[in-house]
Amino acid sequence: MDDARDHDRPDLDPALLRAARTARRVAVLTGAGMSAESGVPTFREPGEGFWSRWSPEELATPEAWEDDPQLVWSWYLWRARQVRALAPHAGHRALAAWSRGARVEVVTQNVDDLHERAGSAVLAHLHGSLFAFRCAGCSAPYPAERVPGLAPGAAAPGGEPEREHPPACPACGGPVRPGVVWFGELLPEGALDRAAEAVAAAELVVVVGTSGLVQPAASLPLIAAGRGIPVVEIDPRDTALTPHADFTVRAGAARALPLLVPGAAAASC
Ligand code: OAD
Repeated sequence: MDDARDHDRPDLDPALLRAARTARRVAVLTGAGMSAESGVPTFREPGEGFWSRWSPEELATPEAWEDDPQLVWSWYLWRARQVRALAPHAGHRALAAWSRGARVEVVTQNVDDLHERAGSAVLAHLHGSLFAFRCAGCSAPYPAERVPGLAPGAAAPGGEPEREHPPACPACGGPVRPGVVWFGELLPEGALDRAAEAVAAAELVVVVGTSGLVQPAASLPLIAAGRGIPVVEIDPRDTALTPHADFTVRAGAARALPLLVPGAAAASC
């Protein structure tokens, strides 16, 4: 069911508010919907989602990079520049505030840095980062400061990526690639283990803005469900994870998180 009635004023279940108030350890699993109200498009929403406008096969696979590194580089650089020009919202700030009163471990599929800029330490970036460039040949890191157009305060890019060459690695001369995880690639070392441990040790698991269609991230809430740890889903729509949630909040993250996090609603007014 997609119930639009209470998107603006979600009534949070008192049992959920109690769980949020008393949990000493919380795992927060975020997806593209977490960043949507900052202006970052999601992937699968009809019309505006990235995968409605572009093909993941042509941009987000090792084969795509082999075929046309310039195209892939330009697309991810365009996205990184978009993110640089955007800011975290009240939901990001609520999570950062929560971590001052409880152990809140943020695990994200997002490749932006909006959690960090709001003040959260991210336990695991399951799909890497738009700002962690590395050499495609020797894997040497390549500092984001050396990539044009990524300085804080840089102007937002236009509506379409423009073709640019990937820089050359100073160590070996190989092409520099985006530090994101493409379909068919392994997750960053240790990221999934850290995430699974955080979920298993949590007293409450908060899932925000993911369709739950991409593995292995989508399996994390099931660890909680299997252990009887309460799971809350924050998403305007039903998702593949909804059947595993004990609570659902049908609202956007910027509205719902300040209401859920103890003390955050007052602070965000
Ligand atoms: P999707 O685009 O698949 O799903 C986004 C979810 O966010 C949907 O369930 C929306 O209903 C929800 N949503 C939209 N606006 C929201 C808001 N304001 N607040 C809360 N939720 C909102 O994105 P992901 O599930 O994150 O991977 O996609 C997973 C992975 O697929 C991505 O990390 C990316 C993509 O291909 C790679 O590129 C490897």
